[in-house]
Amino acid sequence: MTFSGIIVAAGSGSRAGGDKQWRTLGGKPVLRWSAEALLNAGADELIVVVAPDALDRVADLLSDLPRWRAVSGGDARADSVRAGLAALTCAPDQPVLIHDAARPLLDRAVIDRLLSALETADGALPVLAVADSLRRGEAQVMTDVVERDGLWRAQTPQAFRRRVIEAAYAAWTDADAPADEAVVVQRNGGKVALVQGDPRLLKLTYPEDFAMAEALLPRQTR
Ligand code: CTP
Ligand code: MG
Repeated sequence: MTFSGIIVAAGSGSRAGGDKQWRTLGGKPVLRWSAEALLNAGADELIVVVAPDALDRVADLLSDLPRWRAVSGGDARADSVRAGLAALTCAPDQPVLIHDAARPLLDRAVIDRLLSALETADGALPVLAVADSLRRGEAQVMTDVVERDGLWRAQTPQAFRRRVIEAAYAAWTDADAPADEAVVVQRNGGKVALVQGDPRLLKLTYPEDFAMAEALLPRQTR
């Protein structure tokens, strides 16, 4: 099945010490990992959303790859997603996978599960079960235990047909930016499927996450 991809890479990476999408992981820049994964899985259009001052940088980084183009993102992640959606040229029914550049280790199997789920749902996202027991707390003091049943850790890519995600964003009226696209579609009345995620699809958020991701790289690239 053909699909379009949007990679949002316009953040500042402040918690990781800056510039995380351009850093090298296992010999390859972080942003290139997911660009290659989406293109190799069959994306026939890939929009890469970067900060306005990074357009030249991404042109250099991905110059030898096909079927992609870059656009400028915005101040919040949701603004960058909207910029990516506005740049799509695919048919209204084409699936679109929206992905964080900060999650470089994107396996083909996750993409396949998302595309299958879209056959019977308005959207799909990869999730992981919560392993740790959960506590509520205030000012370093435990106030309650939170039941783990029914709770999931959300990952990206998140998949929607183009017309579904565009309509949902157009209908988003909250002053607050949405956490992700799945929230936008679910709040607009869409059925969003949970599919099995992948522990290797971790998000690079803090400096120590890079060592974790290196350890999880596919064997041949280590
Ligand atoms: N992102 C984006 N545009 C923004 C903010 C975030 O495209 N205005 C992207 C990031 O580049 C990243 C993804 O959204 O690929 C997930 O965001 P996050 O992990 O929070 O990255 P940053 O916002 O860059 O990091 P931080 O919050 O630590 O500054
Ligand atoms: Mg952020």
